[in-house]
Amino acid sequence: MKVLILGSGAREHAIAWKFSKSNRISGLFIAPGNAGTGEIGENLWDVDPEKSAEVIAACREHEINLVFVGPEAPLSAGIVDALQKEGISVIGPHQEAARLESSKEFSKDFMLRHGIPTAAAVTVTNKKELEKIIKQRPGKVVIKKNGLASGKGVLESDATDELLSFGHGILKQKDSLLVEEFLSGYEISVFTMSDGKTYCILPTTADFKKAGEGDTGPNTGGMGAICPVPVVGKQLLSEIEETIIQPTFRGLEKDGLMYKGVLYFGLMITDQGPKVLEYNVRFGDPECQVLLPLIESDFGDFCDSIAKENLENFPLAISQKSALCVVIASGGYPAKYSKGKKVKPLPHFPEKDCMIFHASTKSTDDHTALTGGGRCFSVVGLGPNLTNASLRAYEAAPQVKFDGAWYRKDIGQKFFMDTM
Ligand code: AMP
Ligand code: GLY
Repeated sequence: MKVLILGSGAREHAIAWKFSKSNRISGLFIAPGNAGTGEIGENLWDVDPEKSAEVIAACREHEINLVFVGPEAPLSAGIVDALQKEGISVIGPHQEAARLESSKEFSKDFMLRHGIPTAAAVTVTNKKELEKIIKQRPGKVVIKKNGLASGKGVLESDATDELLSFGHGILKQKDSLLVEEFLSGYEISVFTMSDGKTYCILPTTADFKKAGEGDTGPNTGGMGAICPVPVVGKQLLSEIEETIIQPTFRGLEKDGLMYKGVLYFGLMITDQGPKVLEYNVRFGDPECQVLLPLIESDFGDFCDSIAKENLENFPLAISQKSALCVVIASGGYPAKYSKGKKVKPLPHFPEKDCMIFHASTKSTDDHTALTGGGRCFSVVGLGPNLTNASLRAYEAAPQVKFDGAWYRKDIGQKFFMDTM
């Protein structure tokens, strides 16, 4: 099986690495990929994942049997519809279903229509309405940009000035926004994979979205992640499945949104039970980097069962280990940051203990990696429990060296301190 993965982040490096371990793989391509994916497959640097004609041409040239779409942008641009029209097998939802992520308004309507617990919200399209709602708000509220924002379109605040200036910024971009009830509790992410007929639930994960330690500071794409989440027991998981996951898949079917791919539930576990913060229509980054190392089944077989709509009969095996990811970011991220920093040669570890995934790096002629994004590397520690996984990740993190590199020192702590 020849596989093409679309994207260039650490998530796509992890997906490529997982496919590279499959017995089914006879060719592995990544478009455009990064310096890390170039070590395990062939990068197609010139192919833009959002340009379907380029992706289709690459599939023809390299006789691709399966495309796996990493990021949300190509999905919301309709890459799946375009590939399917050409008879190319692809894992990812079509454009209409991808609106669950690309439009907060669409996903809120979907949840309300199908009785899925979520925060109350109103849509706002102009400054006057915004000012009125912010003045009348009960206290802390959340403002969300309607369209895609790479994890940076959300502000939780009780300060009128801050809320108004954030809201005005979104309206200026000619987008609408949601003003949403603030939910308290703890956050987890639940990933499912569906073949359009049935779904499976992967181990629970939690990511750490704030830039600062103790979950403070601005939102980022995610500064770290853990898997599994120790506090999520069988009972909570059943409640999540019954009140959220099942009604969502029933809703998709009712609405005729045949869903093939990853569906990610961002949840807040509140005193009134689990509620949906958001849907994402792809693997989370960095959640993917902790999730995939714990899948024991052959990933090629797993994806093939999804492509062939035979997931029901697939015996998915999950490791009992734990994984913890620390993201190494550029100086300045999530505000303005510099790119093109030279990375010192990366340390090597046995794969069972630690892995390092690249994000948006490029390689120079003398094989030096150069940084290319805000989040540059994902260091993933593995161990029999989270404490162990954390020790391994934090032993490796300071060994990833480039000018301005920084990372959060407390990933996972709020969860695993209780279980030590
Ligand atoms: P979203 O893109 O909707 O997942 O929002 C990004 C982050 O903002 C979430 O991971 C939460 O940390 C926070 N957030 C979003 N919606 C709410 C809410 N209604 N109440 C509290 N926090 C929220
Ligand atoms: N880690 C959150 C996301 O991928 O959206």
